[in-house]
Amino acid sequence: MKMRMLSILSFTLVIVMLMAFMPSPPQNAPWSVPDNYKAMKNPVKYDKTAAAALYSTHCKSCHGKEGLGDGTKAAQLKTKCGDFSSAAFQKQSDGAIFYKTMEGRDEMPSYKKKIPDQNDIWQLVHYMRGLAE
Ligand code: HEC
Repeated sequence: MKMRMLSILSFTLVIVMLMAFMPSPPQNAPWSVPDNYKAMKNPVKYDKTAAAALYSTHCKSCHGKEGLGDGTKAAQLKTKCGDFSSAAFQKQSDGAIFYKTMEGRDEMPSYKKKIPDQNDIWQLVHYMRGLAE
């Protein structure tokens, strides 16, 4: 009986370990955003020139000029960059887009340190809104 328990346990352990080393699936996993972020509204007035410059410096290489996810670096990534022009993207709140840009995840870099002024990140949120179809 003890032996049987032990083998079940070690079998489970092996499965868990295998799952941990599995390559990430091609479809992006849902990205959960804390409720306090979801409720945030964009506090800055849109400055399109500044926003476009920020986007071009930090985001275009992966997300592409139009935000379609077809930047020059996109092909080297394992994860899809998403499509900022899509209805699915645009239906999220300002705060959700802000949160994702700030925090990043896996291949999406965190911009907390790279863009330390949060108002600049809000400018980028405006810019991504402007890429809607
Ligand atoms: C090195 C490539 C790379 C750069 C540079 C990059 N991103 Fe991303 N971004 C990604 C990837 C890959 C994902 C998808 C991540 C995931 O789903 O796990 C992503 C996802 C996102 C998302 C979520 C998309 C969705 O469908 O909800 C937002 C918002 C975003 N990026 C904004 C930005 C902004 C703004 C910048 C510039 C400040 C930027 N990204 C720079 C690769 C990049």
